[in-house]
Amino acid sequence: MNSTTANYNAPHADARIAGKPLLAALAGSTVHPPPVWLMRQAGRYLPEYRELRAAAGSFLGLCLNPEHAAEVTMQPLRRYGFDAAILFADILLVPMALGQPLDYIEGEGPRLEVWPTTELVSRLDREHVTRRLGPVFETVARIAAGVPDHVAVIGFAGAPWTVATYMVGGGKGKDAALDWVRAAPDEYEQLSEVLVTATVEYLSRQVEAGAEALQLFDSWAGLMPTELFDRFIIQPTRSIVAALKSRRPATPIIGYPRGADQANYEAYARATGVDAIGLDETCDLAWGATLQTHLPVQGNFDPQLLESADSDIEGEVHRVCGALQNGAHIFNLGHGIRPAALPDNVARLVAAVHNFQPE
Ligand code: CP3
Repeated sequence: MNSTTANYNAPHADARIAGKPLLAALAGSTVHPPPVWLMRQAGRYLPEYRELRAAAGSFLGLCLNPEHAAEVTMQPLRRYGFDAAILFADILLVPMALGQPLDYIEGEGPRLEVWPTTELVSRLDREHVTRRLGPVFETVARIAAGVPDHVAVIGFAGAPWTVATYMVGGGKGKDAALDWVRAAPDEYEQLSEVLVTATVEYLSRQVEAGAEALQLFDSWAGLMPTELFDRFIIQPTRSIVAALKSRRPATPIIGYPRGADQANYEAYARATGVDAIGLDETCDLAWGATLQTHLPVQGNFDPQLLESADSDIEGEVHRVCGALQNGAHIFNLGHGIRPAALPDNVARLVAAVHNFQPE
């Protein structure tokens, strides 16, 4: 584990970090009020997103059009003044770039063509991943050129297991991937290795294009059987982090193993080499504060509270910020915003974070 929270608000030696609260927090500083961004901060809860999405025709068309994808990235920044812009793309662009046909079905979600596990790895085309993802890097460059000075640009990818759950099941449930990893772990490992390599290339190129921090979404980490958690969650993440650190040592990486239990979260924080850890909304914050002695913590407001006008948003923001006020904290949700979130509630959330004063 690398960072401490010793340099409380100390002016950072690196001017780039000093001017961007998110990067300061990721470097281990306790920043008050904490920097704030939200997973899935762009998307269908915003009318301006729905408008551009309709004009673009398809979700994939939107992701692969750098002008439109950069515009969608900027929409929530204009409304709310977040401290970070997260690239608008999707974790399933990597399997698409590996040659597995991808589609998004209105009202249902993503669909990958289902290939039998016995053929999956051999059918993947590993040669053209970064070329096929070229529009994404152009989007990153446009975002980096367009954000306000204090805003950090976050690139991202899905972690191998989470991406694999969609590749194996095609988007219809996670059982097929779980059955495979249990029954044939050595076969599954080959897919995991292909995804490690592709993810390292993809994220390196995002950094070259202007991403200043990276997040690895392991949204389905909690489904991995505990006896396989080290082998298929921690080790692949550790390989990705180590490879990125050797190429891009200055770029912090946030790991987000959603749904892992406390012991697995702790092992992940200790062993993967990530610079910060994202907590889901089920995580206890007294325990979260103990993690802060080792690394910055991101999270973990319950996104469901954004869906009702009656929620005590201010009280809950105060509780989360208060529990994590003595260490490096990045305010975020425990999971992505859903389409039912009320835009006014997001404004209330951001105002409450900005008004937070430690006791
Ligand atoms: O955070 C952001 O604003 C950046 C964009 C982003 C999207 N997906 C856009 C999107 C990010 C970071 C993701 C990550 C992602 N994608 C994850 C990990 C995080 C999480 O939410 O658990 C996963 C599992 C996916 C795969 C995926 N993409 C699913 C399951 C779905 C369907 C469910 C849904 O929310 O619609 C998508 C589609 C998707 N990805 C949309 C958006 C804005 C909606 C598509 C539309 O507009 O029709």
